Amino acid sequence: MTVQRSKLVIGNWKMQGSFAANSALLSSLVGKTQGVNVAIAPPSVYLAEARQQLTGSSIQLAAQNVAAEGQKGAYTGETSAAMLADVGVTYGIIGHSERRQYYGETDSVVAQKYLRLQEQGIKPVICVGESLAEREAGQVEEVVSRQLMAIIDVCGVETLANAVIAYEPVWAIGTGKTATPQDAQAVHRFLRQLIAADNKNIAEKICILYGGSVKADNAASLFTMPDIDGALVGGASLVANDFLAICHAAKASIVG
Ligand code: 13P
Repeated sequence: MTVQRSKLVIGNWKMQGSFAANSALLSSLVGKTQGVNVAIAPPSVYLAEARQQLTGSSIQLAAQNVAAEGQKGAYTGETSAAMLADVGVTYGIIGHSERRQYYGETDSVVAQKYLRLQEQGIKPVICVGESLAEREAGQVEEVVSRQLMAIIDVCGVETLANAVIAYEPVWAIGTGKTATPQDAQAVHRFLRQLIAADNKNIAEKICILYGGSVKADNAASLFTMPDIDGALVGGASLVANDFLAICHAAKASIVG
């Protein structure tokens, strides 16, 4: 019997926003996302303000990053998982390709961030994905399994009961090129099978999001795939109507 997983849509705002723009965007979203799990990830400096505006709303908060080192201490410029929990964060994005590429985050740093989030009851959203060169070299499965196993090996497969995975092929991020639903499905299925080899129950339940140029007009076809459980949305999450259309497509894809 196949498990019916609920859908999740997370908007990753990246380094974009202002008090005025965030307030306008959030007031257009609040009250319009019923029936689907939705979270938004503003820059950390705006998390507390967003929390205020989302009071009473079902939209949850996600962080874009977290300190690897610990929950407090002399780490200038860092934000700990304890602080994220304090402002009401539910999800924490880790291992995003932009952090791996521009800030040198290794698989082992990502595993530390994963542990710090789980210590505070925050669900890590583990991003994995291959570059174009890796895809062309036929290394997709090798890359995503290395990225995921780096966490499973350190933290244990059982901890994935409180985590989310996001498959984000690097070549599809911000480029307008989306993986076809079939190509994305193949990687999602591969990731689920990789987990199933260790723990079938967790593999069936874990939410695996797709990210990379998800838009209002391609979301529905991605969401029909059996192993795609929602989306991690960048650019389109900054435009209220586009993000709402993606949330509504996720809701519509939930079978009876
Ligand atoms: P885009 O939707 O802008 O391609 O970004 C995807 C992404 O990186 C989400 O984390």
